[in-house]
Amino acid sequence: MMDNVLEHWAARAQAALERFLPGGDGPAGDLESAMRYAALGGGKRLRAALVYATGDMLGAPLERLDRPAAAIELIHAYSLVHDDLPAMDDDELRRGKPTCHIVYGEAGAILAGDALQSLAFEILAPTTTDGDAGMHLAMVGTLAAASGAHGMAGGQSLDLAAVGARLDVAGLTTMHGLKTGALIRASVRLGALAAGADAHTLSRLDVYGENLGFAFQIVDDILDETMDSDTLGKTGGVDRARDKPTYTTMLGLDEARAMVDRLHRAALESLDAIGHNTAMMTRIADFVATRRF
Ligand code: IPE
Ligand code: IPE
Ligand code: MG
Ligand code: MG
Ligand code: MG
Repeated sequence: MMDNVLEHWAARAQAALERFLPGGDGPAGDLESAMRYAALGGGKRLRAALVYATGDMLGAPLERLDRPAAAIELIHAYSLVHDDLPAMDDDELRRGKPTCHIVYGEAGAILAGDALQSLAFEILAPTTTDGDAGMHLAMVGTLAAASGAHGMAGGQSLDLAAVGARLDVAGLTTMHGLKTGALIRASVRLGALAAGADAHTLSRLDVYGENLGFAFQIVDDILDETMDSDTLGKTGGVDRARDKPTYTTMLGLDEARAMVDRLHRAALESLDAIGHNTAMMTRIADFVATRRF
């Protein structure tokens, strides 16, 4: 079993999510339960780990990173709930359990996604905090941009439009960069913003996040083709069956693996001129490139 660097941060991310999610006993108890089901039940917590690792590397106190780490995981959880809906990928297994809409119904899952998204912004814009207002506004703006039409939701729209269609590599790169890359880039940026990083560091880290995000989705495409559902915790082999253009279905496994290697190297190179201890960021990039789940 490979050493999973993400586990270093997972318990802290889980505790932050527990703290910010509604307890399930409010007026809309079913909705709160669906939110908890989608957000708390597993996941690698890559995006939270990137917030913590980046912020910690640059000297931000860990308590200041809990809100952005939880916020990005809430947006990610919402994106998965909606991604699995019958109108989108129509999947029944997620994180080793029945998908949210199987348990709570389609309307319940749509609303859970809506409410998870709102909660993400609510916890990033607290009324009292140890950081300054400008920093929190920058984090809200970063997360909003990464989630919307020029980010995750835009990429999901391109993904659905591409089913059964022909994409070129540039189109595939745009789609991957938006649907998955945007939130991964934002994770790194949120950690850096929480640490008050300077412009040079932010731009180096953007290059890291960009390469990492693209590599992450190509590996997701490779794993879809090569791993079984038990290992993945979601149904394998669905992309080819559904005629989804992915890096592997378009270019084959060998070229997909070669591309991951190139992106992995580029991510590591981007860390060179940062001038901080980048060991944890290196380990995360290594994990993304070599993960098998
Ligand atoms: C799955 O993301 C969806 C993609 C963007 C490829 P993850 O593989 O990070 O999902 P969890 O959070 O670990 O379940
Ligand atoms: C999902 O891509 C990207 C999201 C924004 C959720 P996939 O559709 O490939 O993710 P999985 O394979 O279902 O996790
Ligand atoms: Mg999808
Ligand atoms: Mg999917
Ligand atoms: Mg996939």
